[in-house]
Amino acid sequence: MRRRLTEMAVLAGLLCPPGGVAPEASGHPAHAKPVNYPFVVGFERFHSSLDDEEYLAEGGFLLLNELNCVACHAPPPELAAQLPGILATNLEGVASRLSPLELEIFIRNPRFAKRDTIMPSLFAGPDRDLDEVTALRAWLESLSTPIPDHPVGDIERGRSLYHRIGCVACHAPEVGYRPPGVPDNAEIELTGLASVPMNLADLYDLGALTDFLLRPNDHRPSGRMPDFRLSLSDASDLSAYLKAGPDLILPENLTEALAPADQPTNVDLVSRGKELFVSKQCHACHAKPGGNGNRLMKSSAKPLANLAPDAANGCFSERPIGGIVPFYGLDLVQKRAIAAALRRLGERTDLDPARELDLRMKQLNCYACHELAGTGGPETSREVYFGFRDESAVTMGREGHLPPALDGVTERLPRGQLESILSGTGGNPPIRTHLLVPMPGFRKEATAGIPELFFAPAP
Ligand code: HEC
Ligand code: HEC
Ligand code: HEC
Ligand code: HEC
Repeated sequence: MRRRLTEMAVLAGLLCPPGGVAPEASGHPAHAKPVNYPFVVGFERFHSSLDDEEYLAEGGFLLLNELNCVACHAPPPELAAQLPGILATNLEGVASRLSPLELEIFIRNPRFAKRDTIMPSLFAGPDRDLDEVTALRAWLESLSTPIPDHPVGDIERGRSLYHRIGCVACHAPEVGYRPPGVPDNAEIELTGLASVPMNLADLYDLGALTDFLLRPNDHRPSGRMPDFRLSLSDASDLSAYLKAGPDLILPENLTEALAPADQPTNVDLVSRGKELFVSKQCHACHAKPGGNGNRLMKSSAKPLANLAPDAANGCFSERPIGGIVPFYGLDLVQKRAIAAALRRLGERTDLDPARELDLRMKQLNCYACHELAGTGGPETSREVYFGFRDESAVTMGREGHLPPALDGVTERLPRGQLESILSGTGGNPPIRTHLLVPMPGFRKEATAGIPELFFAPAP
């Protein structure tokens, strides 16, 4: 069943306590059961279940950056380079992928549309001003860009691609999907590590989803979702599969929700919304549409160094408190990790290259595909999904389908080649032609400095 949110469900949900109603869970990746806190993959895999205070604090630093706390609570100048924060979703053209109602949800309480989202709620507090919400919605609704008439893809092909080319390194496999070559009587192990949430795929309009898959780095400048350089036909097949949901059937009228609004645009409202975008601090995380592509690093919130680690108020609060204080819905472990990081802020020094590389690989989830120095690599239960290109690849065993471990890579590859692999041109053309999974292209800004870290001499 399609989950496109209806007015009634939303009104019911938005009146509910924070978090709203969990989207229905099913075996389909775009409908997977969400966790009830903002999901940061590097924290989840490496730092969330350890009692070692030092290691937890490392995870806390990761969260301060990935949840963009540092966008409002300025880090001390000597740590600014370690904590640059992230640039959130590009909102140009947002009205071409989300319906007006969905936009309203994102403004009021994004956790209702995507429970595990890293965007905090800014209008979920008791004192929210619904006129401001309406104005912001009017401004976002004015941001549509024409999307080319992409073909409607093939669901079954998309399903197979999704599971074979490496999406499952980060995102959930469909429960019940059986990769080719796995005998019928063999049990498919469930994945143990949490997967990167993707249920906006369910809300995006079909054409917009294809567009997103063709150029994720433009849509998501954080650089966390890499570019697989998909052909138009592969991208269309993938988006057909993702939109189809558990029944593997595409809804009948795919663009219904994006039908043009019947009221004429209210110019004053739009311009008020545009101002609110800045005064309500949306601009701390999102570049302002029509602006210079940067976010505004100016906030009246306390500097990071002045935050009390054991605070129970502000952004640590268990319920939205309103005003301009965002609501994140952090869970206990996340709060403990952030508190540990805040306590160690004063003694934090520059990272040596190996530790810095480790941090960057956690942020960008390179570890989903690569092992380095005994850390990371595809989870064992996911290996079965990495496809072999042909029979001769099968005879190579694990090397025939898994991305390489990165130990000793500087001895294998000349510096120029490593740089071009990392700087967005990816592994194109591939070195290991037997693999189905490519080295995806990461946004240039996101991988800047990583080649140097690989080549830095060991201490
Ligand atoms: C959009 C801007 C913004 C972001 C992003 C943000 N905060 Fe805040 N935070 C505020 C504002 C505004 C307050 C109100 C008190 C103040 O001026 O600091 C606040 C208050 C707090 C407080 C209570 C401070 C006190 O001493 O009263 C803590 C702790 C806190 N934030 C932690 C965090 C953490 C951790 C994150 C990331 C998970 C975060 N904040 C992200 C704006 C932000
Ligand atoms: C290295 C990890 C990684 C891989 C591999 C990956 N993704 Fe993603 N993907 C992400 C992250 C992280 C996000 C969320 C980005 C953000 O927070 O803006 C995302 C977001 C998405 C979204 C948007 C949905 C949402 O709720 O935000 C879709 C759709 C998606 N990915 C599809 C795919 C497909 C299809 C593939 C394979 C071709 C793929 N991804 C491979 C990490 C990955
Ligand atoms: C602390 C950072 C932060 C702040 C402040 C913030 N956002 Fe977001 N926003 C995000 C992130 C991160 C995402 C991506 C969320 C995801 O995919 O889970 C996002 C996603 C969105 C989306 C969905 C876009 C899409 O195409 O998927 C909309 C709409 C949006 N934000 C609007 C706003 C508005 C309006 C404000 C101000 C009221 C705001 N945001 C404030 C971080 C932020
Ligand atoms: C979806 C899986 C995937 C992700 C995520 C990924 N890679 Fe790769 N990477 C590959 C594959 C597959 C290859 C092998 C490509 C080839 O041989 O042509 C590769 C090759 C490389 C190589 C060259 C290795 C060699 O020996 O030839 C480097 C270096 C590398 N990746 C670094 C990274 C970094 C850094 C990140 C994170 C920013 C990253 N990769 C993320 C799949 C991935």
